[in-house]
Amino acid sequence: MKSIQVGLLGIGVVGSGTFNVLRRNQDEIRRRAGRGIEITMVADLDVARAQALVGKGVQVVGDARAVIANPEIDIVIELIGGYGIAKTLVLEAIAAGKHVVTANKALLAVHGTEIFAAASAKGVMVAFEAAVAGGIPIIKALREGLTANSIQWIAGIINGTTNFILSEMRDKGLDFDVALKEAQRLGYAEADPTFDIEGVDAAHKATIMSAIAFGIPVQFDRAYVEGITQLGAADIKYAEQLGYRIKLLGITKRTPHGIELRVHPSLVPVKRLIANVEGAMNAVMVQGDAVGTTLYYGKGAGSEPTASAVIADLVDITRLHTVDPLNRVPHLAFQPQTLDQAKTQLPVLPMGEVVTSYYLRLRVADQAGVLARVTGILAQADISIDAVLQREADEVGGEGSTQTDLIILTHDCVEARMNDALAEMQALSTVLAPITRIRKEELA
Ligand code: HSE
Repeated sequence: MKSIQVGLLGIGVVGSGTFNVLRRNQDEIRRRAGRGIEITMVADLDVARAQALVGKGVQVVGDARAVIANPEIDIVIELIGGYGIAKTLVLEAIAAGKHVVTANKALLAVHGTEIFAAASAKGVMVAFEAAVAGGIPIIKALREGLTANSIQWIAGIINGTTNFILSEMRDKGLDFDVALKEAQRLGYAEADPTFDIEGVDAAHKATIMSAIAFGIPVQFDRAYVEGITQLGAADIKYAEQLGYRIKLLGITKRTPHGIELRVHPSLVPVKRLIANVEGAMNAVMVQGDAVGTTLYYGKGAGSEPTASAVIADLVDITRLHTVDPLNRVPHLAFQPQTLDQAKTQLPVLPMGEVVTSYYLRLRVADQAGVLARVTGILAQADISIDAVLQREADEVGGEGSTQTDLIILTHDCVEARMNDALAEMQALSTVLAPITRIRKEELA
């Protein structure tokens, strides 16, 4: 049977990995997919560089629309990234009746509803395993392997750059900027690294997983997003002393009131496997009512790990693309006509309604009654304390005045109540600096 012909838009780190792995493993891939899969056309702005990468047998063009217009091409891989031209090209490829494979989490988290609707109307597939956690087959696990379950929550380290930075800061005492440069050098970071360090990239991925887990539309605009730029080395150290590691987690959780969707630094008990995921590795924990807790671990970025996910999608499409479109696995795991009703029944909650526990660090004057006033405010707000750690006082002011760090771990409470208590504590004259608040996830 004739090979499936694939057009590749953008041959950077992931594109060249995809080309190389597909070529290297072509015999096995053919045996798995039932027919050959071949990249026969590539579009890239740097035509000469692209031609050198793929060799003479592959047609290279500077205009992506030439790939979409080619009637021989069955599947288009979009590896351009971003919301701009990539969106236009994906929609044009769908309109031309091509199946699409993309690693573009930003595009799907923000415009997924429009793109999936266009694909369903046209009877083509949009596959995106590479968009979440790189080489880890988490989309397939959520959409197919765990389909029997009512998913309770997902918590993931889904940004390798920030996990690398946090690991380097803790292990080697590196400064934030040095660790970020190293992550960029190793090719983990996004083109715009603020997407990594401000939590936006992780929020794109968490948004996609929340839709698949709970049968709701992708709603990036409802996600709470907080990155790692405000984290201090002191907090990483104190957390360790209390038996926790700080990780940037993407969390989505079913509650009786709706869906939590949030990305922020979190304290995780050191004894959890996920707390020991180091460097640029990714890991996703999924809690289902039938299966219990499951954990998926692997490389979340890089050339061939991401290519592994792209090619898995190519094989899926090759196997399924002759099947009646109504019998395919739905893009977001649930039938599209059920998503809007679920959006009303399962609203994504505002951050003020999220329930979690907290690590607080207060820089306080080392005076009688300070601890009592702080704990009094928490007691008044019905926020229960789990642990308190007070460091030895440092002499900092004149006339022997001293300051100290007061670290408090709390039990669960609703975020809005904690916000009010924090405002009250911050207003005390004996609280000398902005209070650090990091959320804590036991993940039990
Ligand atoms: N910048 C991303 C990361 C790459 O650091 O995980 C994969 O999405």
